[in-house]
Amino acid sequence: MAFMLERIMTTSPHVLYLLIGFIFIFVLLKASQLYWKRRELLKTFKMFPGPPSHWFYGHNKEIQRGQEFNKLLEWAEKYPYAFPRWFGSFAASLVINHPDYARAVFARQDPKSMVTYRFFLPWIGKGLLILHGPKWFQHRRLLTPGFHYDILKHYVPLIVDSTKVMLDKWEKLVAKDAMKSLEVFEHVSLMTLDSIMKCAFSYQSNCQTHRELDYYVKAVYDLTYLVAQRTRTLFHRNDLFYWCSSDGRHFREACKRAHQHTEKVIEDRRKSFKEEGELKKIQKKRHLDFLDILLSAKDENEVGLSDEDLRAEVDTFMFEGHDTTASGISWILYAMAQNPEHQQRCREELKDTVGERDTVQWEDLGKMTYTTMCIKESLRLYPPVPAVSRQLNKPITFCDGRTLPKGSRVAISIYNIHRNPSIWQDPEVFDPTRFSLENSSQQHSHAFVPFAAGPRNCIGQQFAMNEIKVAVAQTLLQFEILPDPEKLPLPVPQVILRSDNGIHILLKKLNG
Ligand code: HEM
Repeated sequence: MAFMLERIMTTSPHVLYLLIGFIFIFVLLKASQLYWKRRELLKTFKMFPGPPSHWFYGHNKEIQRGQEFNKLLEWAEKYPYAFPRWFGSFAASLVINHPDYARAVFARQDPKSMVTYRFFLPWIGKGLLILHGPKWFQHRRLLTPGFHYDILKHYVPLIVDSTKVMLDKWEKLVAKDAMKSLEVFEHVSLMTLDSIMKCAFSYQSNCQTHRELDYYVKAVYDLTYLVAQRTRTLFHRNDLFYWCSSDGRHFREACKRAHQHTEKVIEDRRKSFKEEGELKKIQKKRHLDFLDILLSAKDENEVGLSDEDLRAEVDTFMFEGHDTTASGISWILYAMAQNPEHQQRCREELKDTVGERDTVQWEDLGKMTYTTMCIKESLRLYPPVPAVSRQLNKPITFCDGRTLPKGSRVAISIYNIHRNPSIWQDPEVFDPTRFSLENSSQQHSHAFVPFAAGPRNCIGQQFAMNEIKVAVAQTLLQFEILPDPEKLPLPVPQVILRSDNGIHILLKKLNG
């Protein structure tokens, strides 16, 4: 570098002066741009008082990994409707803690906030989760039939099979060492991946026993970890800095691993599509799945989905379809371990429902009233998607008259809404009776929103509820679940709700 400068100085000093001048003007322009940006943000949130923030780091310094939820809840108690959260000096969003505010946002059609969701783009592309406008509408309409009641019905035995494989593995582990504490998140992730592969992609991966797809589960873990890290690291918000950093390189490498799996799934199906010829022939062999719908989709001009669109949807559903449910199931197993009296009541209900059979059937799912109440209570305390965010495409006025202008970012904290003490009495207490028919009817319409609400709600929610019910029922019929007081979980938002130290439980095989 010094050598280059010396050469420029000796050959043409004017070039150097010009260069320094350009750099100076660039820095000046950038600084004034940031100054105006900060002023604009301060104006945007002027009606919303919030916790004090550092002029440079914003709230990032106060929120340590492992303590994020506690901090956000502490602030939510002080600002029960909403407060601005600063990510450094030049980025902020309004964190919503109250269902009245959430209702106002969920009812609209604002796009996802690309400040955060753009970090997902290299991985899941512009699939249903990220799309917006007419293209989102077209894809949503296209994919909705894939979640029809008649289709979901056929998935139940497939999910039962996947759950049984997992429970058989657990039985063997317990037989070896009855006091062994089991980290369930990883096992459950493989089980839910197995299920979504069989149901949505008619793909027998045997990933639970052959473990060939461990690399995909690991890639998803890495990617969610890296996205969460990136939102917290000021300099990594800039693409150039990020892609040059070691986190950026890890992210690229994990994306490659994730795509390797989804590309293989698409490739295999394309081949069999060619061999089978037409959909009618396939339909005679098996029900049409999500991938059939995608591959055969045509718009009004008879044009199918582009390769890029197809890959984005497969990546989106592969991730959304297994990681969220893995979180939901793992946390409810933990909640059951912590609450033995509710666990026993569920088991009795399940024994009555299933009778002599050893497997759950579609018809049983609607009869598990108390178990469903426990599942909902666990989704309240441990929502698998703890927050969602939007960028307002027009101004909004909330119920108390406060407003935000077009362009503002809002983050609906599902976690805070579910624990808001002005909505839920003793919010930290596990109490399934909150979801009895009588109590539910008195609940605020947006007090319980694990699957979001409004037009952008979760398309897979029925599938997810069925999968959670099957997994919980089969597990409780086979095992008693006990807590491991030595290894209590530490909830962390890592896109989905994970535990920093895993979710550990003890299992006792039931007789008969
Ligand atoms: C317990 C399990 C699940 C939970 C808690 C959950 C939660 C959510 C939430 C909160 C959203 C809104 C996201 C946002 O606004 O940014 C969402 C959207 C979505 N979910 Fe789920 N989800 C679950 C399972 C699933 C499953 C099993 C699938 C697929 C099989 C799925 C596919 C999707 C898709 C594609 C979207 C985007 C929908 C759209 O914008 O039109 N989810 N989910």
